[in-house]
Amino acid sequence: MHFSNDICIIGGAGHVGLPLGITFANIGKRVVLYDVNSKVIESIRQGNMPFIEYDAEPILKKVINKTLFLTSDINQIKTAQYIIVAIGTPVDEYLNPKLKALIDLFIQMRPYISPEQTIIIRSTVYPRTCGQILNTLSKDASGPWHIAYCPERIIQGYAIRELRELPQLVAGLSDKALNDASQLFGQISPKIIQVSIEEAELAKLFTNAWRYIQFAMANQFYMISAGFDVDFNKVRRAIVDGYGRAYGLPSAGFAAGPCLLKDTLQLAAFNNNNFLLGHAAMTVNEGLPGFIVEQLRAKYDLSKKKVGILGMTFKADIDDTRDSLSYKLGKILRFYGAEVLYSDEFAKDPTFINKEELVRSSDIIIVGVPHTAYKTLKVPKSAEVVDLWRILPEGH
Ligand SMILES: NC(=O)c1ccc[n+]([C@@H]2O[C@H](COP(=O)([O-])OP(=O)(O)OC[C@H]3O[C@@H](n4cnc5c(N)ncnc54)[C@H](O)[C@@H]3O)[C@@H](O)[C@H]2O)c1
Repeated sequence: MHFSNDICIIGGAGHVGLPLGITFANIGKRVVLYDVNSKVIESIRQGNMPFIEYDAEPILKKVINKTLFLTSDINQIKTAQYIIVAIGTPVDEYLNPKLKALIDLFIQMRPYISPEQTIIIRSTVYPRTCGQILNTLSKDASGPWHIAYCPERIIQGYAIRELRELPQLVAGLSDKALNDASQLFGQISPKIIQVSIEEAELAKLFTNAWRYIQFAMANQFYMISAGFDVDFNKVRRAIVDGYGRAYGLPSAGFAAGPCLLKDTLQLAAFNNNNFLLGHAAMTVNEGLPGFIVEQLRAKYDLSKKKVGILGMTFKADIDDTRDSLSYKLGKILRFYGAEVLYSDEFAKDPTFINKEELVRSSDIIIVGVPHTAYKTLKVPKSAEVVDLWRILPEGH
């Protein structure tokens, strides 16, 4: 069968789908990005990145309408040899994995796809989901279907660089799926690591749970140090200096965003809620904003204070506020009557003020995320400062 396009990415306007599509289009693949968000589709079509991905926009402008095309017409998914699925896979408001969205997507796509296409799941999935998708597609006795799982492991903001640098885990539910996916990703990745579907499903969740627990470790150490009037940053620096076995100890700070907590919870749910370390990490990481507020409450009547939060995104130097703990911090502070001011370098919100005004008007300044711009921000000596990352200049 002849396909007029090489790849169609479902969820192609998202944080995972868009940089991947740009990367494939840049090596000459004909890529169609399909997404239900038609407003963002229109903006990308004009050559604008809808979020910060370093180095992406110049490539987007180069490839748009040449090898990269956008659509919100589901019919278009027929036209591509490979279908890559990169929609969100969140947990619900009760912290349970939302399994149905992905299966429903395949039910919805079924009239437009055929067994001649190779389907690659890129979204992070709850274990056994790939097999369930195969069962869903095979129900009408069609097939054999070729489904691969190639989990994304990039760090948001740096996908263009990391897609070229990181080894790619590839698994397939058929030999053809495994070979096709390896062949495709082998064109952008330096190394292909073939594993079974179950290994790949666990590998992705383990990766994020591991990172989340590492952050929890640092945050727990921070809280122990703070209760002992010791600067955790100094302890950490002393530990890692020339001591390789401790290099993995991160600095303390909010561990937030749409992936780490969510994937830790998926793993816990998969293991019948038997993931003590994961749950403990959640208690520590999600408890950090409350800990900071309690420390301040021990010193001040917050109802008489203006508190400024510097940085509202979930990670430094990007514009994504999804599941950022800065908002949780703000809510707890407001609960105790504080007047709370927000500022960010990248995320836009009409209620935010600029960083200079924030530091001028706040009695207490808390760094929510260490944007590079804060390295040179002058903070009045009179202000109380909570700066877990030590990003602000010394001597404020
Ligand atoms: N963001 C990251 O850095 C990152 C890294 C690794 C893995 N992941 C995983 O990748 C997946 C996607 O995450 P994301 O951050 O890109 O999410 P996202 O919300 O940024 O992107 C998802 C896109 O899918 C679109 N979409 C949703 N339902 C659709 C449908 N039925 N048909 C077509 N389009 C649809 C949305 O409009 C959106 O543009 C998740 O499983 C996530 O866990 C994300």
